[in-house]
Amino acid sequence: MFRTKALRLLGIIMSVLLFAGCSSGAEDPAEPTLLLGFSQIGTESAWRIGNTRDIQNSAQNFGVSLMLENANQSQENQIAAIRRFIAYKVDVIAFSPIVEDGWDNVLMEAKEAGIPVILVDRDIETTKEGLTTCLIGADFYNEGVMAAEYLIRKADDLGLDHVNIVEITGTENSTPMRQRQAGFADTIAGDERMCILESIDGDFLKSRGAECMRYLLETYGDDIDVVFSHNDEMTLGALPEIENVGLNPGSDIIIISIDGGQEAIDVLKEGRINCVVECTPNLGNELMETALRLKAGETVEEVIHPQERIFSDEQDLSNLEPRGY
Ligand code: AHR
Repeated sequence: MFRTKALRLLGIIMSVLLFAGCSSGAEDPAEPTLLLGFSQIGTESAWRIGNTRDIQNSAQNFGVSLMLENANQSQENQIAAIRRFIAYKVDVIAFSPIVEDGWDNVLMEAKEAGIPVILVDRDIETTKEGLTTCLIGADFYNEGVMAAEYLIRKADDLGLDHVNIVEITGTENSTPMRQRQAGFADTIAGDERMCILESIDGDFLKSRGAECMRYLLETYGDDIDVVFSHNDEMTLGALPEIENVGLNPGSDIIIISIDGGQEAIDVLKEGRINCVVECTPNLGNELMETALRLKAGETVEEVIHPQERIFSDEQDLSNLEPRGY
């Protein structure tokens, strides 16, 4: 009993040290209502940083002790974090899997230890039953659909008869990459004007977005009509590259992004981005409610998707509330 409490206390202290600059959100470490171990992917985007902040705030509001670990974009680190959560006997484990494959062994260990696992933001690929309890995250497929529907409307408005698209995708084999790509491709498939020149992996990073855009401009030059970028970070990296070759993003090239962080919305208002599909990072309240219900032995919904919307040059955005991420 004493050992279990000591381990829990140690876990909470570790989480404060491991996620530099962030507070644990713990109420009373000696008597937590629930100890939640959460493995975050990293800090690759404003979205991710906002998601971490929201989970910390929600934990505090719900009186949940949060053991938070930053995996610095490494699946190996996430697996090690989950093993530590099992060793500390947390009540519930949550994690945002960086990629979909490769989780079976560690999740089997969690299952054998009797610890329920919640997927946050992204899904996994597995053939095994019952490794996770539920997924709380965006409908990424629908985000791809919304991006493509916007493009079809825009092409109609501009009277375009041929549309060359380049796609800068998120991390290879991650759920948002796979599903955004599929939703977009399926939606433009019936429109003969649409042609994807190339899809290239930008890993959700600003620096990669810039590199990819440089390569795409060198390869296709001013044949590019549209950039479909899987997140704001990569979009913000790509824009200066387009401007460096004397083209105007937003008018010479249609720019479509996903996330809806403040910086991208500001650039949309300037006219340098045409459309941003929202992906909300605010998943913390759902996570805490679900974790508490699991601890109480209740069954929970298998998939929880937040409501999401689209921002574009079709709308008046002058009264938009600050985005918060
Ligand atoms: O999984 C959500 C995606 O991950 C967001 O679109 C992106 O910005 C983040 O890094």
